[in-house]
Amino acid sequence: MNILGFESSCDETGVALVQAEAVGVPRLRAQALHSQVAMHEAYGGVVPELASRDHIRRVLPLARQVLADAGATLADVDLIAYTRGPGLAGALLVGAGVAVSLGLALGRPTLGIHHLEGHLLSPFLADDDAPSFPFVALLVSGGHTQLMRVDGVGRYALLGETVDDAAGEAFDKSAKLLGLGYPGGPALARLAAFGNPKAFDLPRPLLHSGDLDFSFAGLKTAVMTRLQKLGPNVCEQARADLAASTQLAIVDVLTAKAVRALKDTGLTRLVVAGGVGANALLRETLDARAARLGARVHYPPPALCTDNGAMIALAAALRWQHGLPAADPAPPRFDVLP
Ligand code: KG4
Ligand code: ZN
Repeated sequence: MNILGFESSCDETGVALVQAEAVGVPRLRAQALHSQVAMHEAYGGVVPELASRDHIRRVLPLARQVLADAGATLADVDLIAYTRGPGLAGALLVGAGVAVSLGLALGRPTLGIHHLEGHLLSPFLADDDAPSFPFVALLVSGGHTQLMRVDGVGRYALLGETVDDAAGEAFDKSAKLLGLGYPGGPALARLAAFGNPKAFDLPRPLLHSGDLDFSFAGLKTAVMTRLQKLGPNVCEQARADLAASTQLAIVDVLTAKAVRALKDTGLTRLVVAGGVGANALLRETLDARAARLGARVHYPPPALCTDNGAMIALAAALRWQHGLPAADPAPPRFDVLP
């Protein structure tokens, strides 16, 4: 079974070819990605109309490149998967439109995949480190922060989520306040490397709420008030200290809640997915806390933490392997909204 996957929910155009047998971890044959980060940088965030237009320009050349890299042709493709949401409607329509058109032209089924399911299952793309079910998943992206209990493919129970901003949004908004570029997460982490994380005592909202929900909106406000106090001529060291303190506050909350989820469920495997999962301090802290509990943390390969086509093709492959419906209803619905 060869699955061609398309991701276009936000600012990355991703295409990948994944091969799956009836059993065993599916294999990534080839993938290609175009990031629009440089294009949106000048605006300090993603401009939806520009994103859609760029997906249109990139998607077919990337698909050709993936097939060439895999030594395959369209005739080898058995199933076409695409991100059906959540995401920017115009951007999603590009991937869905291409996938459904290819499906009609080739006489092959298509399958819309929930973007977060793609992230959730992406650690299965780590060659020798595929987690086994059940596990707790911490999904930390620019738009979502959720803890899930995962009992199998398609068997997901929400344990808790953010009541306002997502963790990635907290990174991005704080970074913007600090005058850093977009996307803010990696930029803030780089600046934080030169700062003292204990320099500023920032709030850790809902840390002791007793549940598994998160709240990050107050943190951004706290960063803003600290910056206002520091004044317009804030020195480099104070900026780095504030970046380090912000990163530590976010990591503290994510770690505490993930550990609580492991304790509450009694599970011993934690999967971390989504862009914030690339954060080095989060990885170090989670690894250390989980080890103390006798638990293991699984991550996708670093390059597959942020949006990509491989996770979409992989989710489709796993759905097919687990006997879940692996085709959109016919005729395909153009229903890409969340
Ligand atoms: O999963 P993703 O690529 O896209 C969404 O589905 O949102 O996640 C993007 C988010 C952004 O907020 C970005 O700032 C954050 O992930 N991010 C990071 C790091 N790399 C990406 N945040 C903290 N540290 C990083 N190293
Ligand atoms: Zn994502």
